[in-house]
Amino acid sequence: MGSFCRAILGFLIQFCVLYWCSAIEVDTNETARLFVNASEASGWKIPETLFGIFFEEINHAGAGGLWAELVSNRGFESGGLNTPSNIDPWSVIGDDSLLLYQLTAHHAFDRNKVALRMEVFCDSKGTKVCPTGGVGIFNPGFWGMNIEQGKTYKVVLYIRSLQSVNISVSLTGSNGFRTLATDNIIAADVSNWTRAEVLLVASDTNHNSRLQLTTSKKGVIWFDQVSAMPLDTYKGHGFRNELFGMLADLKPRFIRFPGGCFVEGEWLRNAFRWKETIGPWEERPGHFGDVWNYWTDDGLGYFEFLQLAEDLGAAPVWVFNNGISHNDQVDTSSISPFLQEVLDSIEFARGDSNSTWGSVRAAMGHSEPFDLRYVASGNEDCGKKNYRGNYLKFYDAIKLAYPDIKIISNCDGSNQQLDHPADFYDYHIYSDSNSVFSLAHKFDHTSRSGPKAFVSEYAVTGKDAGTGSLLAALAEAGFLIGVERNSDIVEMASYAPLFVNTNDRRWNPDAIVFNSFQQYGTPSYWMQHFFIESSGATLLNSTLKANSSSSLVASAIAWSEDDKNYLRIKVVNFGINTVNLTISTDGLAPNSFLSFGSTKTVLASSNLMDENSFKDPKKVSPVKSAVDGAGVNMNVILSPHSFTSFDLQIESNNLRMPGTDSIRKSSY
Ligand SMILES: *[C@@H]1O[C@H](CO)[C@@H](O)[C@H](O)[C@H]1NC(C)=O
Ligand SMILES: *[C@@H]1O[C@H](CO)[C@@H](O)[C@H](O)[C@H]1NC(C)=O
Ligand SMILES: *[C@@H]1O[C@H](CO)[C@@H](O)[C@H](O)[C@H]1NC(C)=O
Ligand SMILES: *[C@@H]1O[C@H](CO)[C@@H](O)[C@H](O)[C@H]1NC(C)=O
Ligand SMILES: *[C@@H]1O[C@H](CO)[C@@H](O)[C@H](O)[C@H]1NC(C)=O
Ligand SMILES: *[C@@H]1O[C@H](CO)[C@@H](O)[C@H](O)[C@H]1NC(C)=O
Ligand SMILES: *[C@@H]1O[C@H](CO)[C@@H](O)[C@H](O)[C@H]1NC(C)=O
Ligand SMILES: *[C@@H]1O[C@H](CO)[C@@H](O)[C@H](O)[C@H]1NC(C)=O
Repeated sequence: MGSFCRAILGFLIQFCVLYWCSAIEVDTNETARLFVNASEASGWKIPETLFGIFFEEINHAGAGGLWAELVSNRGFESGGLNTPSNIDPWSVIGDDSLLLYQLTAHHAFDRNKVALRMEVFCDSKGTKVCPTGGVGIFNPGFWGMNIEQGKTYKVVLYIRSLQSVNISVSLTGSNGFRTLATDNIIAADVSNWTRAEVLLVASDTNHNSRLQLTTSKKGVIWFDQVSAMPLDTYKGHGFRNELFGMLADLKPRFIRFPGGCFVEGEWLRNAFRWKETIGPWEERPGHFGDVWNYWTDDGLGYFEFLQLAEDLGAAPVWVFNNGISHNDQVDTSSISPFLQEVLDSIEFARGDSNSTWGSVRAAMGHSEPFDLRYVASGNEDCGKKNYRGNYLKFYDAIKLAYPDIKIISNCDGSNQQLDHPADFYDYHIYSDSNSVFSLAHKFDHTSRSGPKAFVSEYAVTGKDAGTGSLLAALAEAGFLIGVERNSDIVEMASYAPLFVNTNDRRWNPDAIVFNSFQQYGTPSYWMQHFFIESSGATLLNSTLKANSSSSLVASAIAWSEDDKNYLRIKVVNFGINTVNLTISTDGLAPNSFLSFGSTKTVLASSNLMDENSFKDPKKVSPVKSAVDGAGVNMNVILSPHSFTSFDLQIESNNLRMPGTDSIRKSSY
C-alpha cells in the first residue's frame, strides 16, 4: 500500500473513531458508585504533615515579592566589584554637568564591598544653581514601589561626606514629579559612615512609585545600604501582608525552602550559603542567583525563612547545599567545610541561646529555638557523581549530632529501593494533565518498607497549564487524591512553584500571581484548599465502581472542626461526561447526616482552559452550596471537568458506631 493511501485510510479511521467517540461521550451520562466505610478501623490517620508548601526564590518570589523591602539592589552590590559596573536599577537625576557618580570600594560594611560616590557640581546659589528639586539618585524598586496613602515607610541609609549634608529623601511617582512623602537629612559631621533614618507617611497612593535621594548642595556624598520598608508587614516580620495571608489561608503543615535550583546554583560560587544571609541586613552581602538570573540582597535569609515557618505554624524543611551545583561539585574527600556549615545551620535553628550559633539567632531577636526537624541534602542531585558519597557524610554527621532530624534524599525510591539510608526520598513531577492525573495511582504499588515519599514538587506544565488553568488544577487534584489515599507511604506533598511576580516570569505556571500591589491564586492554588483539613484527619476506606473509572478519582476522610464532625468525600471528574454518582456509606445509622450542616464545594468553570487574572481573580475558585438529600445513600451529579467536595456533617449521637471507635477529632 502506498503511503498516500495509508494516509487517507488513517485519516478516515481517525475521523470515524473521533466522531463516534465524541458522539457517544457527549450524549451519554455515566453512573458510578462510591462505597465508603465510615468505620475508622478501615482507615488510618493521615500524617499531620501531609500538605505543605514549597518556597523557592524564583520569579522574584521573595526579593520583590513576599519580602516587603522596596529598594532593589540596596547596597549597590548587584553589578559586582568590576569597573565599569552598573547601579541597576538605580538611576541618576540630573545630567553629567550637574553630578557624577561612581561605584567605589569605600564601603560602610566589610562584607559589602561596594558603595556609591556622588559628586555634585551645582549648589543652591552661585554660578551653577541646582535645578528645582535638586540632583541625585532614585530607585524604582522592583518594577515600581507600591506606596499607599496613610501608610508609613521606614527609610534607612548609610551616608558619609566631608562636608555637612542636606539630603531630601522622597517617595514620588514614577517620573519623579508627584511627591507622596518627603523629609530631609541634615547633618553637620558625617565624616565617618553614619546611619540615617526617616519615617515617611504617604499623602497619596501610587503603585508605581520610586525612592529619591536628592540634594541642592555642592560636594561629595557616599551612599551605602539604602532600605525602604513599609512598617505594616506581618507582625512586623517583613512579610508582605496580603501574600503572607494567601499562604496562611492554605494552613500549610510544612514549608520547604529556599529551593529548588536556587540552593544549588549553576556554579557553587552562586549557591545559597546560609551564613551570608543572617545577621543585620546591612551586613549581608547578597548574591546573584545564577539559575533564575537575578540578584537578591538576601533580606529574606535563613533566619527569616525559619521565622516564616513559625509564623505559618508550618514545620521548616531546610534544603541545604550539599557541595553540588548544576556545573561543579565538591569531592567527597573535601566536603568537611560543607558538613560543618550544615551542622552550624542546625545549631543556629535549634541550639540554645548560649551555643555558638544559637547565640547569633538570639541576637537576631529569637532566643527560643526554631522547631527544625527536617533537612534535605541538596536538590535533584541524585544522578550527580558525588551525590551518594557526599550524602552519606551528611547523613552520618547529622544523625550523630541530631538523631531526631529527618533526612530527605534526592534519589527517587518509588520504583526501587534506595541504596542508602534516608527518612524520606524526594519525588518531583512536572508533566501534561493526563500524565499527572494518571499518577493518582503512582504510589498504589510502591513498596511500603523503607523511607517515606516526599512529593516536594508537582504541577501540570506545558500547554495544558496555560498560565494556570482549570485543567491543570483538576489533574493535580486527582493526583493529590491519590497521594491522600497513599498517605501511609507518602507523608508530605507540595506544589511548585509557589509565587510569580508577573514582571519576571521565570517559570510557568505558579500558584500565586502578583505584581507590586495585587495578587490572586491560580486554580491550582484554590485546588489545594480542598486538602487543608486532610493533614491529621482519618482516611476512610472507599471504593469506586464506575465504567470509565479512569476519569474519576475519589477519597473519603473523617475530620472535625469546632466540635463538629464531618465526613468529607472528594471526587474529581476528569472526563467530559456528567456523572450520576451514588454514594453509599457503611457503618453509620441511616439518618446520621444533618441536612443543614452539609455542604458541597465545587471547582469548575465554563471552559476547561479558564484562568484567573488581576481583573477576575476568582473566576475559577471554589463555590460552596448546601447539599440536598444528604444521607448514607445519596445520589449526586458531578458535572464534567469538575472537582467536588461533599462535607457531610455527622449528628453527634451517631458518633459511636457499633464495634468501632468514635470518629476521632483530627488534631491540628
Ligand atoms: C444527562 O444528565 C443531565 C443532568 O442530570 C440531564 O440534564 C441530561 O438530560 C442527561 N442526558 C442524557 C442523554 O441522559
Ligand atoms: C456500566 O455499564 C453497563 C452497561 O452499559 C450498565 O449496565 C452498568 O450499570 C454500568 N455500571 C456502572 C457502575 O455505571
Ligand atoms: C477497603 O475495602 C475493600 C472493599 O471492602 C477491601 O477489599 C479492601 O481490602 C479494604 N481496604 C482496606 C485498607 O481496608
Ligand atoms: C468496614 O471496615 C471494617 C473494619 O475494617 C470491617 O470490619 C467491615 O466489614 C467493613 N465494612 C464493609 C461493608 O466492608
Ligand atoms: C535643605 O534643603 C531643602 C531643599 O531640598 C531646603 O528647603 C532647606 O532649607 C535646606 N535646609 C537647610 C538647613 O539647609
Ligand atoms: C571616626 O571613626 C574613627 C575610627 O573608628 C574614630 O577614631 C573617630 O573618632 C570617628 N569620628 C567621629 C567624628 O565619630
Ligand atoms: C546560658 O549561660 C548562662 C550563664 O552561664 C546560664 O545561667 C544559663 O542558664 C544558660 N542558658 C541556657 C539556655 O543554657
Ligand atoms: C441517578 O441515578 C439514580 C439511580 O441510580 C436515579 O434514581 C436518579 O434519578 C439519577 N439522578 C439523575 C439526576 O439522573
